Amino acid sequence: MNKKGFLVTFEGGEGCGKSTQTQLFCQFLKKENINYFMAREPGGTNFAEYIRMLVKDPTFEDKSVMSELLLFEAARSDVVEKIVKPTLKSGSVMVLDRFYDSTLAYQGYGRQMDKDMINYLNEVATGGIVPDLTFYLKISPELAFERKKGNELDRFELAGLEFHKRVEQGFDEIAKDNPERYVIIDASQDRNEVQKQIKQAFLERYNA
Ligand code: TMP
Repeated sequence: MNKKGFLVTFEGGEGCGKSTQTQLFCQFLKKENINYFMAREPGGTNFAEYIRMLVKDPTFEDKSVMSELLLFEAARSDVVEKIVKPTLKSGSVMVLDRFYDSTLAYQGYGRQMDKDMINYLNEVATGGIVPDLTFYLKISPELAFERKKGNELDRFELAGLEFHKRVEQGFDEIAKDNPERYVIIDASQDRNEVQKQIKQAFLERYNA
């Protein structure tokens, strides 16, 4: 049994099924009697959920990219201090639906902001916490586009296919640079198959 706390993050572009897989993974942890806490980013605390509402509100679509970046980091700092750090300290598994890799992929690659600055801000907001395991649910933006519908499709279209391709390239490179913690999963597969691979990779590392 792992006693020192274990941080698992789920990453990927829009429409990769990340949130569903995160929920299924939490059900699995519960069944296995493994103590865990789950949060999504941006979000996880009242303050961070409020920021989530703000960054997703189409009324403020014209906000500057820098203000958006700083909002993501502000939300992150709150959830890290109030939830992530105490959970890890207690020896439980912390599950995060997105973490700082999303900022590098979306703001760094997608919005083409300065990557060194983003790495620095990520470090400040997390206090240097690094995931033990990161699942990258990889799906082509074209297929993700087909899977989306309604409001979500509007949001996807607003940023444009080129943006989502840059985000995908971002996650590809982040995964390549962090092979010790990254597990890449083909998210175009059946959702049960995806979950099976997630559980297997988790157990191998958690029990190591
Ligand atoms: P999601 O969790 O439903 O995918 O929504 C979060 C959205 O925010 C998604 O479009 C990715 C985006 N995002 C960033 O652009 N930067 C970040 O740092 C984070 C955490 C999310």
